[in-house]
Amino acid sequence: SNRSLLVLPGDGIGPEVMREVYRVVEWMDHRRHVSFALQEDLVGGSAIDAHGVPLADATMEKAQAADAVLLGAVGGPKWDNLDFSVKPERGLLRLRKELGLFANLRPAICFSALVEASSLKPEIVEGLDIMIVRELTGGVYFGEPRGIEDLGNGERRGVNTQVYTTSEIHRVARVAFELARKRGNRVTSCEKANVMESGVLWREEVQKLHDAEYADVGLEHMYADNAAMQLVRAPKQFDVIVTDNLFGDILSDEAAMLTGSLGMLPSASLGDADATGRRHALYEPVHGSAPDIAGKELANPIATLLSFAMALRYSFDLADDATMIETAVQQVLAGGLRTADIMSTGKAKVSTSTMGDAIVRE
Ligand code: NAI
Ligand code: MG
Repeated sequence: SNRSLLVLPGDGIGPEVMREVYRVVEWMDHRRHVSFALQEDLVGGSAIDAHGVPLADATMEKAQAADAVLLGAVGGPKWDNLDFSVKPERGLLRLRKELGLFANLRPAICFSALVEASSLKPEIVEGLDIMIVRELTGGVYFGEPRGIEDLGNGERRGVNTQVYTTSEIHRVARVAFELARKRGNRVTSCEKANVMESGVLWREEVQKLHDAEYADVGLEHMYADNAAMQLVRAPKQFDVIVTDNLFGDILSDEAAMLTGSLGMLPSASLGDADATGRRHALYEPVHGSAPDIAGKELANPIATLLSFAMALRYSFDLADDATMIETAVQQVLAGGLRTADIMSTGKAKVSTSTMGDAIVRE
């Protein structure tokens, strides 16, 4: 097959949830004759144990060559006291940086069977389906100058700089407009143009790109603090939200909580397309390695299964197969099965592999 997928299960519950993805991959091969050239390798703590580094050069080369990378999670107490340069998270940062993954896609979908898991009223979240596109490689997390300066007399100064260029804004806004065309055809762009120069530039450039190439898509500009309020007041007003690295970090975590559990949330990170139209992409659940439940068959595999579904949709042009997985998840939840993290009264509590079984069967 020419569909190459590099699987990096990682640490803690990573390998446990990835096992359920393998079963779906096998099912697709047998039943739909859709096959993948799979490779598996180490990342994070497991790579540190084997190679002394959280991501070996050979693994990085495989990631460069693959159509998509699917990652479980990295980290755990065993590696907590290591120097930052060899921490498990550095493996993930290296992948993001070297694959040029500038757009982070975080869907917030409220599964109707899980309405009770939200902390908001059912009518506010029922049917919620928003996509947050967060700029991932620029902004205040990377801008120069940065640092902590000693001013004398015990006074110190911490500095970070928010910087965006036209091309950085255009490429992430382009991702948002393209996604919107395949969804509800509306984009809300968030910044704080009222107080930030980079926000003024962001607003102007998103508007320019819209007028030149995406005039068919609805565009609204909203201050990020207002967006934070609107997300809890009336989240269904949004379709696609596009925003910078810092506001995106906060708004995507806020949106995640509208939908219930960490164990349900997938993500994708996309890079630039090359001459053939292929773009690097990394898919991963939002959650971490959950050392508190690792090895106990308690982990919810749905976030990782939905991340795989995103890979099918965005890297392999297999939207129907992606929808099939998403629908199977909906159906199994509607049937009352729950892993421990999404358990509520009257439902059936099941293990990681029983949940995987049910989804494959569905
Ligand atoms: P976490 O997401 O691993 O766990 C937070 C809580 O949610 C825990 O109680 C955990 O049991 C639960 N949880 C998470 N995923 C779940 C799932 N699929 N099913 C059921 N319950 C689930 O975050 P935490 O505890 O802050 O970090 C644990 C380790 O993971 C640390 O080493 C951290 O650095 C790492 N981490 C890695 C990330 C990644 O690989 N992208 C992201 C966040 C944390
Ligand atoms: Mg965050």
